[in-house]
Amino acid sequence: ITVDWDAVTAEKGGYEHFMLKEIHEQPKAYRDTMRGRINAEGNKVILPELNLTVEQIKNIRNVQIVACGTAYNAGLVGRSLIETLVRIPVENDIASEYRYRSPIVTPETLVIVVSQSGETADTLAALREGQANGAHVLAITNVVGSSIAREANDVLVTLAGPEIAVASTKAYTSQLIAFTLLGLYMAEVRGTQTEEQVSEILTAMHALPEQVEEILAQKEAIKNYAEQISKHKHLFFIGRGVDYAVAQEGSLKLKEISYIHSEAYAAGELKHGTLALIEEGVPVIALATVESVLEKTVSNIKEVKARGADVMAITHEEHVTDLLRSVDQAFVIPKTLPLLTATLSVVTLQLLAYYASLALGHDVDKPRNLAKSVTVE
Ligand code: AGP
Repeated sequence: ITVDWDAVTAEKGGYEHFMLKEIHEQPKAYRDTMRGRINAEGNKVILPELNLTVEQIKNIRNVQIVACGTAYNAGLVGRSLIETLVRIPVENDIASEYRYRSPIVTPETLVIVVSQSGETADTLAALREGQANGAHVLAITNVVGSSIAREANDVLVTLAGPEIAVASTKAYTSQLIAFTLLGLYMAEVRGTQTEEQVSEILTAMHALPEQVEEILAQKEAIKNYAEQISKHKHLFFIGRGVDYAVAQEGSLKLKEISYIHSEAYAAGELKHGTLALIEEGVPVIALATVESVLEKTVSNIKEVKARGADVMAITHEEHVTDLLRSVDQAFVIPKTLPLLTATLSVVTLQLLAYYASLALGHDVDKPRNLAKSVTVE
């Protein structure tokens, strides 16, 4: 008898890498993070685990979202969700910067720390800084018994399951689900969304797991494109609004596992400097899912096209024909509400980073110089 598998191979569940397995686990992670947090009628978010009282939620004057890396990038989307749903001003901070900028924190500040591991030293220090200034600190984390979960005043757990690959995927998207639930919960208390609006968003959230599957089904085409970009040394991601936040995550993901240099720009900002770097054949990945600014994004796409860039766009089916007049190729994401597009478009970018790393022969799950949990400041 020969045994041609080992414990690690078995844990990968038939996938070549943990990262690919975790990308595929996202539909389940979405469902698990939502489960038990939506009422039977589907028109209300229930978060009995929170200590935050109705009175406290009503009194919140500002929100500060503090995190590192991919969790920080999730917070950028979180800002857009909370500002849109609850109409409270939100700031994003990189945890290692937060303490040193003397943030303006009051007892009416809600500090949200985001951490997959719950052990990131800078994020833990930010949590303590918030508490020392009298803020209520809510942690969004994937690890129940972690230091951050233990010290926070409140914990909203993401149920993504263990994440082994250094590159975070399902934790990021589960954080987006957690932010949406929290935003809807706060909106209900503060009366900033009607019951119909909440139901509409919750219905759209229930459709997300299947929509992620539709994106996963495009992986061969994404792989082909990843092989093309893997030949390049530099590339750019552009987008507006929430597309810009996703562009930042796409850029980080690509850098950390493929070692290809990339930058993410707010599409309208290019002409203030970066456009000088666009030359013949440079790949530009344009996120074009936010309808309200689509026309503007298209004019930014034309700016880079005119300088010879090779543009790939991520958009909805209904815009693809129009966009293909201005870009070289496009990937489609299923239609959802503008508030939720990040939970879908990022999946295309995760696959892109994965296949680019694979094409270059790198250690996808354990990129050089990086650790899964960063416990030093
Ligand atoms: C993600 O792909 C990165 N490896 C990294 O940026 C990570 O998100 C960051 O170190 C924060 O980790 P945490 O979520 O465990 O706090």
